Amino acid sequence: MSKQRAKLVVGNWKMHGRLAGNTALLQAVAQGAGALPDDVRVGVCVPCPYLAQAQALLDGSRVVWGVQDVSAYTEGAYTGEVAAPMAVDFGASLAIVGHSERRAYHRESAELVAVKTQRVLEAGLTPIVCVGETLEEREAGKTEQVVGVQLDEVLAKLSSEEAARIVVAYEPVWAIGTGKSATAQQAQQVHAFLRARLVAKGAPDVALLYGGSVKPENAEELFRQPDIDGGLIGGASLKDQDFLAICKAAGAVSVTQ
Ligand code: 13P
Repeated sequence: MSKQRAKLVVGNWKMHGRLAGNTALLQAVAQGAGALPDDVRVGVCVPCPYLAQAQALLDGSRVVWGVQDVSAYTEGAYTGEVAAPMAVDFGASLAIVGHSERRAYHRESAELVAVKTQRVLEAGLTPIVCVGETLEEREAGKTEQVVGVQLDEVLAKLSSEEAARIVVAYEPVWAIGTGKSATAQQAQQVHAFLRARLVAKGAPDVALLYGGSVKPENAEELFRQPDIDGGLIGGASLKDQDFLAICKAAGAVSVTQ
């Protein structure tokens, strides 16, 4: 029997947003989140220049905030980088690491993602470690091999206590921004595989999020799956009504419902 875990829905704004427009979006999310069941947690990961704005508008609300990447270093001559402790200065509690866009466009290796996860944990933030296969890898039957290696590289560097503090997001690359989500069954199958690895590491209750074209229309069916503990939402997190509808879908299947 799988255990019921609290749901977590996190928006990944990617490189979107402007100071003026963000205000209305953040205020609407903060207000809407107040009406959700207690065991639905909500977060937004904003571009770094808007961290102070997120802090000002979300502090005291149910919504937590964070960044979309961090440096593998804590401090030093690394032009353009942002260290995890800097995000902490602005009240952040989340940091995405290993998003497929960073792995693909910035050539981030599994090893680098593992080091970044350590930096995030050291800073006291919750890392959201993204894993996922390309369409080519899926069609070659390599999905489990690919996501298994991506997760193992991170877990190998962590104690079981540290592993218990991470969040894992399964984001099939072919489903990101394409409008073509994995089916609930496809996602559940990979989540069950990832869960088994986390159980073996002694971290069975890690939140496993699904990401890739989550919308108000498909969220509830995805969130009903026993090993899907919520979502990492891209495009739909930029529209307050869509994002809140996805959060409500998490509420509809939550433990207290
Ligand atoms: P979309 O929801 O736009 O497909 O993006 C998913 C994602 O990459 C979240 O990190």
